[in-house]
Amino acid sequence: MSELLLYGSYGYTGELIAEVATERGLDPTLAGRDERELTEQAAELNCEMAAFDLDDVDAVADRLADYDVVLNCAGPFVRTYEPMVEAALEAGTHYLDITGEIDVFEGVAGYDDRATEADVMLMSGVGFDVVPTDCLAAHLAERLPDATHLALAFKGLADISPGTMKTMLNYAGDGGYVRRDGLLESVPTAYRTRRIDFGSGERSAVTIPWGDVVTGYHTTGIPNIEVYMAAPEPAIWAMRGSRPLAPLLDVGPVKSTLQGLVDAAVSGPGERTRERGRGYVWGEVTDADGNRAVSRLETPETYKLTVESSLEIAERVLDGDAPAGYQTPAGAYGADLVLEIPGVEREDVV
Ligand SMILES: NC(=O)c1ccc[n+]([C@@H]2O[C@H](COP(=O)([O-])OP(=O)(O)OC[C@H]3O[C@@H](n4cnc5c(N)ncnc54)[C@H](OP(=O)(O)O)[C@@H]3O)[C@@H](O)[C@H]2O)c1
Repeated sequence: MSELLLYGSYGYTGELIAEVATERGLDPTLAGRDERELTEQAAELNCEMAAFDLDDVDAVADRLADYDVVLNCAGPFVRTYEPMVEAALEAGTHYLDITGEIDVFEGVAGYDDRATEADVMLMSGVGFDVVPTDCLAAHLAERLPDATHLALAFKGLADISPGTMKTMLNYAGDGGYVRRDGLLESVPTAYRTRRIDFGSGERSAVTIPWGDVVTGYHTTGIPNIEVYMAAPEPAIWAMRGSRPLAPLLDVGPVKSTLQGLVDAAVSGPGERTRERGRGYVWGEVTDADGNRAVSRLETPETYKLTVESSLEIAERVLDGDAPAGYQTPAGAYGADLVLEIPGVEREDVV
């Protein structure tokens, strides 16, 4: 009997994870709501399958009860996490997902007490968002224990998958978020810019609503957090110029029309891009005395890293290393977790 249930296994990212999990002998059960897709995939990978939707929590809990851990790849996760987490708690099954959505990190963290009581681990963000940034945040907090400000940045999202595009559209018009004095604060799109050296000279970068404004605080306790993404100046002007369009993008029918176009227009990075691409992560902490530390990571391409990091964590859980309650990747497994992934290098710059 397989111990790992992979939900959303026939989506772009789920499929990549399913293939590697099978190669590694993890024998995942492939799951999702489309029986036809699953039948085809299960035959191809020679895996068991389980077709079910998320409408009825008790029915989902019955399905999860046979497994040690569920890895949820069905995003946008704001539509799937609640029934899955409720069911995981009912079934006593550990829960992982690959979200990057701030609302979902907040939502899953809200189940902390119930998860602790049920002796279940809940961990969101086991992909590129947020494993490398969370591990870098933890490393920097170890280097400067009294840090009051944390800035994180990444470069490398050259090509994105359909689900990532739909998830981004879901939040289009919502502006951004930073953490200030311990609280999440809503800020305009492209709120701040700065020049960042990811290792090959300075680049422009702009604030984006990335999961670390939640997870970085849980992991390090640093009360002020901003996350930046490298972007060319014209893209930053365009982001700022789009602010007046925010109310339009926030209209349900506009979002659903745009999301409907995604499957036809977006296919995700091909194998060559995944094999050759690299991700770059930068982090800086400062304290009240003006001390500063800067470190960087270079990683495999973002989807390749997501496959590796999610399976590294799933394997730890299957080995019994699953502290109860809401956990962040580096909170549970330490700053060096990311260094277990082949092709990741870390450098202390300042
Ligand atoms: N953390 C990271 O770094 C990272 C990396 C990669 C992806 N992601 C995130 O992962 C998600 C998936 O991305 P993707 O490109 O793989 O997406 P995708 O190709 O569109 O696949 C999405 C999968 O989720 C399922 N799904 C969606 N809504 C569902 C619902 N309400 N109930 C049941 N199943 C549902 C889909 O099944 P149906 O076809 O039946 O709808 C499909 O199997 C996105 O939110 C993306 O942002 C995060």
